[in-house]
Amino acid sequence: MHKDIAAVILAAGKGKRMKSDVPKILHPLCERPMLEYVMDLVEALAIKRKILVLGENHLLIEKQIKKRKGWEIVIQKRQLGTADAVKTTDNLLKGFKGELLILYADHPLFRKETIRKLIEHQQRENLDLTLLTAVVKRPKGYGRIIRDKWGNISEVLEEDKLNEYQKRIKEINLGVYCCKKESLFSVLNQIKRNNRQKEFYLTDAVGLLYKKNALIDAVKIINTDEALGVNSYADLARANRIIQERIIERLLSEGVKIIDPFTTFIAYTTQIGKGSVIYPFTIIEKDVKIGKNCSIGPFAHIRPGTVIEDKVVLGNFIEVVRSRIKSNSRAKHFSYLGDAIIGRDVNIGAGTVTANFDGKKKNRTVIKDKAFIGSDTILIAPLRIGKNAVTAAGSVIPHHHNVADNQIVLGVPARPIKK
Ligand code: UD1
Ligand code: MG
Repeated sequence: MHKDIAAVILAAGKGKRMKSDVPKILHPLCERPMLEYVMDLVEALAIKRKILVLGENHLLIEKQIKKRKGWEIVIQKRQLGTADAVKTTDNLLKGFKGELLILYADHPLFRKETIRKLIEHQQRENLDLTLLTAVVKRPKGYGRIIRDKWGNISEVLEEDKLNEYQKRIKEINLGVYCCKKESLFSVLNQIKRNNRQKEFYLTDAVGLLYKKNALIDAVKIINTDEALGVNSYADLARANRIIQERIIERLLSEGVKIIDPFTTFIAYTTQIGKGSVIYPFTIIEKDVKIGKNCSIGPFAHIRPGTVIEDKVVLGNFIEVVRSRIKSNSRAKHFSYLGDAIIGRDVNIGAGTVTANFDGKKKNRTVIKDKAFIGSDTILIAPLRIGKNAVTAAGSVIPHHHNVADNQIVLGVPARPIKK
């Protein structure tokens, strides 16, 4: 189906409304940059030609996506609007006679089934242009779909061009277009600079095509949770919530028990095994892997680079980062575990801290199987605690003062005692 389609993502805009130094499309949603969701979508549709239009921040963005294969990148030197952005693909697409799928990088919520429907409609009906639209309660800020008396789409008007009657139109343009490349390019040069923003609006192509009697139609989306475009921090927060709900729904269906989805934060790339329970007010960041039948939280903070094996219990106010915790181990009350490798069946007492940072670098703590770390132990890394070893409550263990297997240590600084 997608043989003669080239996908073009417009990502060169400045995102001024965000008032941020970070390019808008690199702002993360559940810890994944917004642009990556749109690129994932195009890749999931198995479209052969994939083109990305970038602007002045292109180096930063290219660095972010360098692992992706098969993308052609063009640079729009001056951000003169969405029509101008499409024009920058002119050279790349010389001789290309198929269809274009144009998407905006600030719409990260579309599902692939939705876009597939759009492409299928365009191809089945052999149209010049198919737009993706939605009927929403709050259309303000979006381009509105203007229809003639027969209900055909005759124009898309941006907010600044609407009269009072048109402002009440609730059908909006979602910035996804599937069109015959040649039809669109035949009118691109006729688009004039818009008065107010001094930009060339891609949406003006719709009116121009209508005047040429081109065949235009729309596919209306049903799930309006896909419709949100991100132009401000308020939109970003809403999109974040929607993606968070999708992540949590997936995990619930995979057999992870999340007690309170509203107070649980789980990043996009997190993996959690079935039978695990996540208690309220828990934050699980990206690059975290949690095994089966674990119990995490409430109020736990699991940070990047952490692997938790099966049947591990991490309770109230535990912070873990860049660590591995092997099966059956538990840390039930307020502790900090950083750069640690913790064996099986280890008990971490309340208030245990791995002092991993010496002011210059992070150091490693290794705790072997079945060790018992008493409450309020400070483990100054680098440090190794042997198998079955015990640290008494309140011990402070200086760095390199490794504790041998089966040894008991006590005090400040900790010293071995007889069994
Ligand atoms: C656009 C549409 C509007 C639609 C809305 C959906 C136009 C003129 N308007 O408005 O009808 O309802 O999206 O969210 O298209 N970009 C470039 N180069 C530029 C300008 C923009 O690549 O010179 C890119 C941006 O990075 C962005 C996308 O195009 O990803 C859309 O630009 P944006 O300024 O956000 O358009 P909206 O005002 O949201
Ligand atoms: Mg936008």
